[in-house]
Amino acid sequence: MSTITPKQLVGQLEWRYATKQFDPSRKISPENWSALEDSLVLSASSFGLQPWKFVIVEDPAIREKLVAASWGQRQIADAAHLVVFTVKKNLNEQDVLDFVNRIAEVRGVPVESLKAYSDIMVGFVKNLDAPARIAWAAKQAYIALGTLLTSAAVLGIDACPMEGFDPAKYNEILGLDAQGLSAVVVATVGYRAATDKYAGLKKVRFAREDVIVTVQA
Ligand SMILES: Cc1cc2nc3c(=O)[nH]c(=O)nc-3n(C[C@H](O)[C@H](O)[C@H](O)COP(=O)(O)O)c2cc1C
Repeated sequence: MSTITPKQLVGQLEWRYATKQFDPSRKISPENWSALEDSLVLSASSFGLQPWKFVIVEDPAIREKLVAASWGQRQIADAAHLVVFTVKKNLNEQDVLDFVNRIAEVRGVPVESLKAYSDIMVGFVKNLDAPARIAWAAKQAYIALGTLLTSAAVLGIDACPMEGFDPAKYNEILGLDAQGLSAVVVATVGYRAATDKYAGLKKVRFAREDVIVTVQA
């Protein structure tokens, strides 16, 4: 089943760009925003462990504070929505068990039937030291970022992925430390301002043959 044509898909991926100037007066419809939140929830993650929380910051005063912690980048305050991708700092056995309980609940299977899978995940997590756990969780968060960016593009909604911010300051301003979370990356989502000159710039990508390597029989 094809939902959109290949041409439409590539067209939307060419249409999207890292938006530098959002139109602060344009909001995203509740239906579209709900779908974009769903794209976060539905994102793939290794083992399915979902070691994240997506913090949506609506408070304008807090968003102004975050601009100062983001090299003054105005997208943080001007976009319709701000998503801070955070990860659990100390992913542990309990997180795995919470996930296993959720599988049992959603799929209607006994928890005991998931023991082998659970043991593999617990072993994996325990084998990582603290920095490696955060790094692994951050990789998963970037998958969710990619899912959001593509979903927004398909809906004709603009976004900017952002690493240009101070995670320690974000953690402080948003009270993330106390929740055992740490900010890893950000997305601003909304509609481009007519004055954003970046919208008209040609995309710079290496040639297909330079980045796609085919191993043939
Ligand atoms: C993880 C990540 C972090 C980024 N951080 C910023 C940022 O802080 N500010 C910004 O304006 N653009 C940021 N960008 C946008 C990139 O510069 C942009 O995606 C890249 O130049 C390719 O251009 P395009 O997305 O417009 O096609 C970031 C992109 C990614 C993927």
